[in-house]
Amino acid sequence: MTASSAFNTNVKQYLSSTKVKGGDIPAGLQELLLAVADTCSTLSHEVAQGALIGLLGSAGTGNVQGEVQQKLDVIANDLLIDGVQGCKSLAGLASEEMELPLPVQGTGDYLLLFDPLDGSSNIDVNVSIGTIFSVLKKQDPKAPLQTTDFLLSGRHQVAAGYVVYGPQTTMALTLGDGVVMFTLNKLTGEFVLIKHAVEISHSTKEFAINMSNMRHWAEPVRRYVDECLAGVSGERDKDFNMRWIASMVADVHRVLSRGGVFMYPWDQREPHKPGKLRLMYEANPMSFLVEQAGGVSTNGDQLIMDMVPTELHERVSVMLGSKEEVERLQHYHTQP
Ligand code: AHG
Ligand code: MN
Ligand code: MN
Repeated sequence: MTASSAFNTNVKQYLSSTKVKGGDIPAGLQELLLAVADTCSTLSHEVAQGALIGLLGSAGTGNVQGEVQQKLDVIANDLLIDGVQGCKSLAGLASEEMELPLPVQGTGDYLLLFDPLDGSSNIDVNVSIGTIFSVLKKQDPKAPLQTTDFLLSGRHQVAAGYVVYGPQTTMALTLGDGVVMFTLNKLTGEFVLIKHAVEISHSTKEFAINMSNMRHWAEPVRRYVDECLAGVSGERDKDFNMRWIASMVADVHRVLSRGGVFMYPWDQREPHKPGKLRLMYEANPMSFLVEQAGGVSTNGDQLIMDMVPTELHERVSVMLGSKEEVERLQHYHTQP
């Protein structure tokens, strides 16, 4: 089967022809997003080679978060740095895999944050993984780059997205005026527009959480999941289905595609940590996409997008997806 001619807009054409809230996308932002897309196209090709190019297994190093780095975590990080640091519009970048931000030679004022490889535990078992990215604007373009330049709430994002390397390589993107999706044509290396105005259904019968942590959860989350598990014979009056891929990027892609709720809540294993996922390059970009698709994203007490970060690698509790379910979770968090 050949590619359908209905799909004839590539990401470059999309960026240059699309109006966001009535205006053109700034040329510098187009340049940066294209560089990210091109790098992810290369990374998709590498991911698909796996063992053939010695890509699997541990790198034998750790990152600033105390996590073991896989070879692909390091390769993806290096590829993204190489791919974007020539962008004139970029002032600096920050990554899950680097303790400190990296200033970039560009004269522009965009800041890029990324999780170069999300779902590291799935690399060696050939399950979907991805890249997550967020773009901010430096508030003071002239001052030398500092970590504090990145510490802006998710509401300051000018663009965000992810690329999921699954059976297809698909990119979801928002510039604050809805969500679009592209699929990589692996023959040409181009991302091709496949969906406009992505909408998350307000109701759902599907939830995603790592159930093995159930005994550690706080009461509101335990109550919510207990009620889902009780199905038609319980409070909710309907049966639920559960999925857990253990790659946020793939779980959120499912939520954007067919609705659902994704949770990685605070738990008592490490009570001093607000959660496992990172605010700046996991929760914020995903929350921007989810809100733009009509869903809700919260830590239980506050919308994720409203949180003002105090650290680059800050962690957060995350509950996102279909509006009715996430609002129910928010409500349970207000109960004594
Ligand atoms: P990363 O690979 O970037 O460290 O992120 C992994 C995250 C997230 O993608 C996923 O939802 C979660 O870790 C899975 O955690 P568990 O193994 O605890 O289920
Ligand atoms: Mn991640
Ligand atoms: Mn990662």
